[in-house]
Amino acid sequence: MARRKFVVGNWKMHGLHDQLPEIGAIAKAAADAPGIDTALCVPFTLIERAATVAGHMPIGAQDVHAAQKGAHTGCISAAMVREAGARLTLVGHSERRADQHETSHDAWAKAVAAHEAGLDVILCVGETEAEHDAGRAERVVQAQIEKSVPDLAQAGWFTLAYEPRWAIGTGRTPQPEDIAAMHAIARAKLRRMIGEQADAIRILYGGSVTGANAGDILSMDDVDGALVGGASLTADKFVPIIEAAS
Ligand code: G3P
Repeated sequence: MARRKFVVGNWKMHGLHDQLPEIGAIAKAAADAPGIDTALCVPFTLIERAATVAGHMPIGAQDVHAAQKGAHTGCISAAMVREAGARLTLVGHSERRADQHETSHDAWAKAVAAHEAGLDVILCVGETEAEHDAGRAERVVQAQIEKSVPDLAQAGWFTLAYEPRWAIGTGRTPQPEDIAAMHAIARAKLRRMIGEQADAIRILYGGSVTGANAGDILSMDDVDGALVGGASLTADKFVPIIEAAS
């Protein structure tokens, strides 16, 4: 099944207002690549202003709370980021699983809450280095999918991202064939859970994607795009990845 490529930047805890021109430049490159989808997930504090300079390129959040409102000091709901101008959000990123001890069940609840608030969702899964070295990557990723993908997931609003933790920010990437193999395993798992609709769901790869390796990674079967951290922070590094996907 033909799926449009999807390239998403994740600025993590980077970005002040003086970086808005980078978002403008990235948005321009996105507009020049109408054959693919591009989006940028920025810190909460940048969403509103980023959305004003991003034109048609969707701006996303990096997390939302599982509740729509309530006594949760310091947290942000999906409705709040939507109101600020976000059109999508990440959930279940491995940095949140590690730093905030979030579980796959948390990711599931956040995905459901985000969808109910009208946001598209990119749900992240991926094994640790120890799990990888112990030969448990497939089992771990399948279990994360089982526990965190909502039954009602559909391609119209749901995307899966495979990000092996050991490849994030390290400059190490799996071989493109190994990425493709894991994506095939993930899709087979999705198919067992939600049937044929799984074939339309995009599966992104994330972990040390750069302009230099994007072409090889994105050419693999079942790799429908990239979730990019460090190389999405500036237009000069991110635009070549957008171009490689086009
Ligand atoms: O969400 C993107 C990510 O975790 C990958 O980060 O810096 O390895 O591209 P990076």
